[in-house]
Amino acid sequence: MLQKTIPTLAALGLCASALFARELKEFDHDVNYDESRIPHYDLPDPLVTAEGKPVTTAEQWRNVRRPQILSLFANFIYGTVPVPPDPIVQTYHVVKEDKSFLDGKATKLDISIRFKNRKGTAQTHVVMFIPNQAKAPVPAFMMLSFDSPRGSSFRLSNSRKGWLRNGVPLADLIANGYGYVSVYHGDLIGHNEVSFGGGIHKLFFRDGQSYPKAHEWGVLAANAWTGMRVLDYLETNHRIDAKRVAVMGHSKMGKATLWAAAQDERFALAISAQSGCGGAALWRRKYGETMAKLNRFPHWLSINARKFNDREDDLPVDQHMLLSLIAPRPVYVASGTADTWADPHGEFQSANHAAPVYRLLGKKPLATTKLPAANQPLLDGDIGYHIRTGGHSVDPYDWEQFIIFANRQLKP
Ligand code: GCU
Repeated sequence: MLQKTIPTLAALGLCASALFARELKEFDHDVNYDESRIPHYDLPDPLVTAEGKPVTTAEQWRNVRRPQILSLFANFIYGTVPVPPDPIVQTYHVVKEDKSFLDGKATKLDISIRFKNRKGTAQTHVVMFIPNQAKAPVPAFMMLSFDSPRGSSFRLSNSRKGWLRNGVPLADLIANGYGYVSVYHGDLIGHNEVSFGGGIHKLFFRDGQSYPKAHEWGVLAANAWTGMRVLDYLETNHRIDAKRVAVMGHSKMGKATLWAAAQDERFALAISAQSGCGGAALWRRKYGETMAKLNRFPHWLSINARKFNDREDDLPVDQHMLLSLIAPRPVYVASGTADTWADPHGEFQSANHAAPVYRLLGKKPLATTKLPAANQPLLDGDIGYHIRTGGHSVDPYDWEQFIIFANRQLKP
């Protein structure tokens, strides 16, 4: 019988603030954290078309199967972005430029991106750092982030030299020749949006519409869209090589990261840190967070996704297919041993089951089909993975692996 008592914070590897950032539903009595109780499941095959035909060439993948899978994820999981009733004009403004950041090693730029059409306006504030030494355009990490540009996250840490207060190893990134671009999740859409009155959605509503249709975009899709629009801006910044941008995110933002990279082939690499349910983890394992639990945030996914509450086996996709959409571009999945709500093993199995598509496209999948031991990163292929000891956070250990993987993939 499954016995789940509320574990101590230490046993979870969490500090109090990390716990309270998460949800009490993690401790609901009906959450399965027992590997032996995972039901039998059959994953949909990414390499068989909706018509039942095998996909055996890169062309069939690109022209037939990839569009089918994209459409399934858009219409049933994250929601489609509608065509706005009136074209949106997007403009960029430099709010502040500080060339002397990090003892003069980096330029800190505050950029405002504004969106406007006859339905209204919206704007997001991007904070970014660019190495000053670079002679040519640099690759960059784009973090879909919880860090507000208006708080103190982007000051240098007092306790860790070269780190930002938000835990980003800025000096390491700059020394490795990367820009760092932080895209705030909360400017264009509320964290737990319910009204859709204030953010980006209003620019897309038809006259008289005030709420997304069942197949239309929710919060995560809007977060992914924000990342894509920031990439539009990066294409105009001559100090950044927009063809070498790694999009990344933790947890909720890891989910948005994977959806952004799946749709927008301009992203050169995607890094999912503990994205869990609705991110890298397989739905059908129903371990930790499930579709029904995730949909308690009523609009992270599309309204259509609610039809799959407690019916994950009826989904036409599973999350290995989301990772497959990123192929042939590299993808990295990171888990934590104590991050059970995010189903670390399910995150690994998604990465594992994306292998056939990577192979078909001539890329190197994970070297093993078995969950590796903690702190034994798999960095050699085009799919990377590690599970580190500890809980739900992005730690220095994670950053080390991300930088190694990015160095191999973006600076060959
Ligand atoms: C909650 C949610 C997760 C999400 C996490 C986070 O725990 O249930 O799906 O990943 O918040 O964003 O930290």
